[in-house]
Amino acid sequence: MASSYNINSTFKLNSGFEIPRLGFGVYQTPPEATEQASLEAFKAGYRHIDSAAAYRNEAGVGDAIRASGIPRSEIFYTSKIPSPVVRGGYEATKEQIEKSLKTAGLDYIDLMLLHAPYGGSAARKGAWKALVEAVEEGKIRSIGISNYGVHHLDELEQHIAELKAERGNGGIISVGQYEIHPWCARNDIIDWFAKRNIACEAYSPVVQGTRWGDKTLAKLAQKHGKTEAQILIRWSLQKGLIPLPKSVTPSRIKENADLYNFELSQEEVAELETDEYAPVCWDPLKTGLDN
Ligand SMILES: NC(=O)c1ccc[n+]([C@@H]2O[C@H](COP(=O)([O-])OP(=O)(O)OC[C@H]3O[C@@H](n4cnc5c(N)ncnc54)[C@H](OP(=O)(O)O)[C@@H]3O)[C@@H](O)[C@H]2O)c1
Repeated sequence: MASSYNINSTFKLNSGFEIPRLGFGVYQTPPEATEQASLEAFKAGYRHIDSAAAYRNEAGVGDAIRASGIPRSEIFYTSKIPSPVVRGGYEATKEQIEKSLKTAGLDYIDLMLLHAPYGGSAARKGAWKALVEAVEEGKIRSIGISNYGVHHLDELEQHIAELKAERGNGGIISVGQYEIHPWCARNDIIDWFAKRNIACEAYSPVVQGTRWGDKTLAKLAQKHGKTEAQILIRWSLQKGLIPLPKSVTPSRIKENADLYNFELSQEEVAELETDEYAPVCWDPLKTGLDN
């Protein structure tokens, strides 16, 4: 039940590991500001940080994990294989996993995602196989994808079956990460994942700040005595998603984690959702299988 969530709530992944239901994003956080922002997030209670090689700040997150004094086992750290590397397939992805471990200075990464589905079928299969091997070697705990359309997801299931036949283990999809908010609800993706118990993470959960003042959003914020950002992140949690709000501002980092003393009604969750398809970030989902 949504009302029983708290900042320590987790979701049990198909890998068997637990993921905190609230994450902290560091896309566009400058490398030199990342350790401080991550430490602020730990202070506010977040235990889940979402980075990526493409963000050039894996080192800052690793530094914060060490400086925090929090046991490594209590922190969930995500990185991603950049899309040009996915294009390079198996070998390039294997190399990138080593690079990401070294850059963050960690013995293992909790979650590694393929950042986007570009590169064609053979490259995607090779990149996935490299992730599966890294799990077998204990370098990564859980694996998943980001920005895959349903056609890419169906293909991935086929690749998993092929790899199982070829080598005995095709790996398990634990997480998918997508731009999701009331102006880009992606219910087809949410349904695909729900049927398979795959955790669905929501990026750009406060729409990168582009929807402040929306009539319904403002009304709900006033009604609940909360900020518009808190309403949007709460919407995400109540949709069963794992929101990843980003901020470098200490007061906002705290505000975005202060979500557990109110609840939207089911009608309010539905009222906020629109039929618009208006992503604010990139949108690789629609790319063809050959691209
Ligand atoms: N897989 C992917 O392809 C992908 C793509 C995009 C993002 N992501 C992940 O998802 C995370 C979040 O997405 P995002 O960074 O695109 O967008 P977001 O979290 O929706 O928005 C971040 C922006 O909103 C501002 N903000 C945050 N909280 C606020 C608040 N309470 N009040 C007012 N403004 C607020 C931030 O400003 P300040 O920082 O200046 O405070 C920043 O400019 C990323 O950091 C990344 O980890 C993944």
